[in-house]
Amino acid sequence: MITFGNNLFHLKTKDTSYVIGIFEGKLLNLYWGKAIKCVPDLEDMLAVDYTRTFSSTDIMWNGKKMSTNDLTMEYSEYGRGDFRTPAFYGVDGEFTTASDLKFDSYEIIDGKYKVEGMPSVYAEEGDKVSTLKIHLLDVYSGLKVTLLYGVYEDFNVITRAVIFENTADKPYRLNKALSMTVDFDSKEFDFIHLSGVWARERKPQRTYVKSGTMQVESIRGTSSHIHNPFIALVSPETNEEYGEAYGFNLVYSGNFVAGVQKEDYDITRAFMGINPIGFSWILEKGETFSTPEAVLVYSNNGLGEMSRKFHKLYRTRLCIGVYRDIKRPVLINNWEATYFDFNEEKILDITKSAAELGVELMVLDDGWFGKRDQEDCSLGDWTPDTRKLPNGVKGLAEKVNNEGLKFGLWFEPEMVSPDSNLYREHPDWCLHQGGRDRTLGRSQLVLDLSRPEVCDYVKGFMSEILSTVNISYIKWDMNRYITEFGSPAFSGEKQGEIAHRYMLGLYDIMEYLTANFPHVLFEGCSGGGGRFDPGILYYMPQIWTSDDSDGLERIDIQYGTSLCYPYSAMGAHVSAVPNHQVFRTTPIKFRGDVAICGQLGYELNLGILSDKEKEAVKEQIKTYHKLADVFHNGDLYRIITPENSDVAVNQFISEDENTVIVCVYVMRGRPNNAYKYAKLKNLDLSAVYVDENGKEYSGEFLSRFGIKIHPDRDYASKIIVLKKK
Ligand code: DGJ
Repeated sequence: MITFGNNLFHLKTKDTSYVIGIFEGKLLNLYWGKAIKCVPDLEDMLAVDYTRTFSSTDIMWNGKKMSTNDLTMEYSEYGRGDFRTPAFYGVDGEFTTASDLKFDSYEIIDGKYKVEGMPSVYAEEGDKVSTLKIHLLDVYSGLKVTLLYGVYEDFNVITRAVIFENTADKPYRLNKALSMTVDFDSKEFDFIHLSGVWARERKPQRTYVKSGTMQVESIRGTSSHIHNPFIALVSPETNEEYGEAYGFNLVYSGNFVAGVQKEDYDITRAFMGINPIGFSWILEKGETFSTPEAVLVYSNNGLGEMSRKFHKLYRTRLCIGVYRDIKRPVLINNWEATYFDFNEEKILDITKSAAELGVELMVLDDGWFGKRDQEDCSLGDWTPDTRKLPNGVKGLAEKVNNEGLKFGLWFEPEMVSPDSNLYREHPDWCLHQGGRDRTLGRSQLVLDLSRPEVCDYVKGFMSEILSTVNISYIKWDMNRYITEFGSPAFSGEKQGEIAHRYMLGLYDIMEYLTANFPHVLFEGCSGGGGRFDPGILYYMPQIWTSDDSDGLERIDIQYGTSLCYPYSAMGAHVSAVPNHQVFRTTPIKFRGDVAICGQLGYELNLGILSDKEKEAVKEQIKTYHKLADVFHNGDLYRIITPENSDVAVNQFISEDENTVIVCVYVMRGRPNNAYKYAKLKNLDLSAVYVDENGKEYSGEFLSRFGIKIHPDRDYASKIIVLKKK
């Protein structure tokens, strides 16, 4: 619900309040936290003391002894005395940069706004969601800045985005256009972000916020393995269960920046949006520019509650398509079983042995097209390699279907190999900057998706194969970072637009394909988890979490990922031992118990397993079918996190709260190790819970005493299922 009165906007969700004030025409951020019931008075909230000692360095604002630099601004401008990092800046026709944003008008609308050309969270019939639009005008340049707020009452979430419109006759060049800033007055914070590298993605990092600026960013053209577009500001004492946590996540898959700045008067500014490095956008009269959406979550009950709020929203109001709600198939992927070295016979062998154990979908990975025996050729030539597949992909798909499995196929649609017919025909279709070198990554170049004809080409070949072959699933890979953002299709002054135009092109293709082939399940991938972000998640309800499929490593990766993203989004496979990335050998049970919480798959030749291991796989799949709904639609409680621990424990509770699953992993056994107690959360203390052997426990016992774990054996694991009696 959104109210306006006494120059205050009050954005109310069930448990939170977000208050914006209008003061002397400026928009101020006055409160964000636990729900407030009082009708606050602006003067009281502002705490602007006109008599305080005015610093000799302060800039006077409208002739007053006060400065925008000292206030908590809602969307800060550049050049008139707020010296902190601005939310936006640009150059108008006069080559001037200072702007003076003034409140103009507002609208409160039922339902949720949409972001032009980009994914964003949505509302469904019956949702208590409303939109606030605050129109500001830069009195100097005529730039209209509209701040958009989506208020999700029941989800306890606020979303933000911004639209810029040039109302003047002269062009306006935006050089920075963030999706949001939030200023916090006098709060101590730790800054949490998810950082990593290929095959070791999204490790939570936590640092105390001192004065200065700390930020994570990407200029790699993807959200990247290195930093995720998620940050949190939490009180120094905040843990999983207690304390304040403010989470921010950008619904975007390209270059971003997200950070925190602490300056004068201990005001802390959080900021997030498109990375201004390399970015500029020219607005002619009447043209608009929309920023991607930022999702804002407040929790007063620690990181756990923050995560659960993100999870619920993303599970139900971010992913589109039928697979949001239906159970997805257990898959077998041939990549780690064969790499490029396969033929129809090998794939069918893998398929048959998988079918016997209960696998439902066979995914043919890289190497099925052109003459791709290694990674340096053929991307762009999406015709089946008949040396490997004499009956083409269509013939293989039919045979796979005859074994009772659905068929899925790998693509890397955004790429072109220099050694490909596509490149020989259209050497200017890749991103490049004039005659400068075209930097290769994994021996390939990136198609110029800022150009509609290139996007049409991608839509065309994808549609062709999807219309002629019985394909139920696409793995959409993207294996390099982007360099030389440039396009000959645009004038020199518009080259700063190419990185974002690339993203708009990509989203346009995904929009087209998901709309036209709604029965296809898309799984995102970018060299593993290099583009694990809400932008991709909107179109593709699951993402290949990491190229590291080792069970032990995956505990860390899935833990970090779960800070913001639900388990239903995580592609999780059981692979061979010794593991191909870290050469570790772990039991099949352990690997299965780790993968089972995500979207379960297998990535090895199941045919060569021992009979005992095959039985274990059969059991895993059966258990998965029984429990997937709780893993994917239930609430997650991280009971013992893997950081600095020999043990990790996750608890999931079903939506109806009748089923509780406890996943216990011993990551490192030590002789005579101290016991650990997994004290369960959010149970009914007066209820009795029964495990699969019929043993009964009181809710109180499980919560107060907990499940006793003796971590003395490497890679011991347990999935405990408790039903409320
Ligand atoms: C990177 C992916 O993450 C892998 O799973 C595999 O699909 C390879 N690319 C294929 O080139």
